[in-house]
Amino acid sequence: MAVFPRYRPRRLRRTGALRALVRETALDSQHLILPLFVQPGRGVRNPVPSMPGVVQTSVDELVRDAESALAARVHAVILFGIPERKDEEGSEAWREDGIVQAAVRELKGRLPELLVITDVCLCEYTSHGHCGIVRCGTVDNDATLEVLARAAASHAAAGADIVAPSDMMDGRVGAIRERLDADGFANVAIMSYAAKFASAFYGPFRDAAGSAPQFGDRRGYQMDPANGDEALREVWLDIEEGADIVMVKPALPYLDIVRRVKDETGYPVAAYHVSGEYAAVMAAGERGWLDAPRVMLEVLTSIRRAGADIIITYWAREFARAVAGAS
Ligand code: PBG
Repeated sequence: MAVFPRYRPRRLRRTGALRALVRETALDSQHLILPLFVQPGRGVRNPVPSMPGVVQTSVDELVRDAESALAARVHAVILFGIPERKDEEGSEAWREDGIVQAAVRELKGRLPELLVITDVCLCEYTSHGHCGIVRCGTVDNDATLEVLARAAASHAAAGADIVAPSDMMDGRVGAIRERLDADGFANVAIMSYAAKFASAFYGPFRDAAGSAPQFGDRRGYQMDPANGDEALREVWLDIEEGADIVMVKPALPYLDIVRRVKDETGYPVAAYHVSGEYAAVMAAGERGWLDAPRVMLEVLTSIRRAGADIIITYWAREFARAVAGAS
């Protein structure tokens, strides 16, 4: 190994062109997925107070937002539905004319080149706010699988390219794969929230999606933040059940897991930079405590450097515009 003064690392940092020449990590807007929240109505754009720049929209406005994402070269969106009614069983999650199903149909009809991903979960649709069917005060794993499979199939029937189960029930990837294949959707891919941790960083999302649990918390199904080996077991289980893309969530506190999953599986890995991670930077930016646009670039680059192929981020459009402006 060359040592100082023969080796001077600063030689390659002198100019922008030199730095670009030796830059190890490339991040492009095509690696990003933009989350969008959709609700019933027309002409609706409700800002989410705890997530500056994020809105809940009706389907017509959703199409406009997806169009502007495409124009900025963001080609993929993930949809979260806010239904008109919630019930014990989350039946809006799988209704053919549910809000997400309607949104997918409209998006794929108008913007066929857009990659449409749907979040598959019950928490936005159940009156109790849990991610599955509640029996005797706890979430019943096996009773939930059928409902999730039904929801995923209804998204596929509406035209979704990828379904993304985020519930953390055991066995759901296998149940969904089986159902999709049986219904003639063998080409619809599964991006599983494979290592999803019980995180305090989901707070603002639960405002945006109206999905906070009405009793207890999600630690009975989401992972303990202390566990890395178990994350690998979760990931392998999902791969064996048929996941095409595996996700780690949240992103920054779990970059070690992102790296391990990439190295050990070689599968496409997604990392979700979640609502609280986003909100913290935006809030500090509003106060002038952080330069939010620069932090955005640093954060997204670090997630990619850690091994993520794909990043789900509320910054997708801002990032795409920033790089387009810079080049
Ligand atoms: C649904 C779901 C959640 C998120 C994505 N899908 C919330 C949760 O598990 O409570 C969080 C996304 C974010 O915080 O940005 N289960």
